This record gives sequence, C-alpha cells and structure tokens, in this order.
Amino acid sequence: MTQPPPFELVGGAEGISRIVESFYRRIETDAHMRPIYPDNLEPGKEKLKLFFQQWLGGPGAYSEKYGHPRLRLRHFPFVIDELAAGRWLRYMREAWKENGVPEEALGPIFERLGPLAHHMVNASLDVPRDPIGDAFLT
Ligand code: HEM
Repeated sequence: MTQPPPFELVGGAEGISRIVESFYRRIETDAHMRPIYPDNLEPGKEKLKLFFQQWLGGPGAYSEKYGHPRLRLRHFPFVIDELAAGRWLRYMREAWKENGVPEEALGPIFERLGPLAHHMVNASLDVPRDPIGDAFLT
C-alpha cells in the first residue's frame, strides 16, 4: 500500500496554514524566541507556509516567488543559537500534533527537520547579518 504524500497527510495548504499559525502562537509568547523574529510576523508566516507546501511535496509556490530557499543563508540576519533550534523544533512538533498530524507521520518529517534546524545555528559565527528580505535567489 502506498502512503499518501506528506502534503496530503497534513491536510494540504489549509493544514499547513493551521500548523504555522499554531507554531507562531508559541513563538509570540517565548521570551527567547520572540526577539529573534521581526516586529511584524505576518510576512514570515506566509513564507513559511509556502515553503512547507513545497517541502512536503505540494505545489512549488515558494521557489516560484523567491527562488532557491538557501535556508542557511536566508537565516544569517537572525542570530540563532542551539537553544533557539531546540525550541523551534519543540514548538513545531507541538504545532503539528495539535493539528492532528498522526504520530506515525511525524517521525519521518522530524527526522528531516531535526538536522535542518541545527544547521541553522549561526550565533557564534561571523556571517553577514544584512537583511536579505524578499530577494529571489538562484
Ligand atoms: C533553528 C531555529 C530557527 C529559527 C530561530 C528561525 C527563525 C526564522 C526567522 C527569524 C525568520 C525570518 C522571518 C521573517 O522574515 O519574518 C525565518 C524565516 C524562515 N525560516 Fe526559519 N528559523 C529556524 C529554523 C528553520 C527551519 C529548520 C526551516 C525549514 C524547515 C525554516 C524555514 C524558514 C523559511 C522558509 C523562512 C522564510 C525565508 C525567507 O524567504 O525569507 N526555519 N526563520
């Protein structure tokens, strides 16, 4: 029996939207995480939704607008330490669970997200911190 693609499993674009909203609710009330994010959270939410659609095998909406994700580079303007990576993962996992993604689907997804989150850690590195904004990267 073939598994449905992860995009279907999480409820498509609507499911992803709910997950990202739940995740950001946690960010908003966390004193370590909130200052890492810009004042206006809305543009980032929309980008994360588009990114997850694509990452989970749905439509390639993110890259059509912004080009290659180049996630590590796009995170350079934000100072991310190990604590932040751990919390990002914890809140993301809670958000997926809260929105009814079955436990057996979470395993493979978080096996991919775990290393990716730790790969974003850049706090002790001398990297360019200039804003990248909505740049289309190739
Ligand atoms: C490790 C902890 C992480 C922290 C603290 C973090 C924080 C942030 C911040 C502050 C932004 C900017 C939001 C804005 O411009 O409004 C951002 C953007 C983004 N993050 Fe993360 N992030 C983390 C990990 C990840 C991971 C693991 C992924 C992918 C699975 C991811 C995907 C994205 C995407 C797609 C964007 C939008 C990039 C753009 O087009 O500008 N982040 N993140």
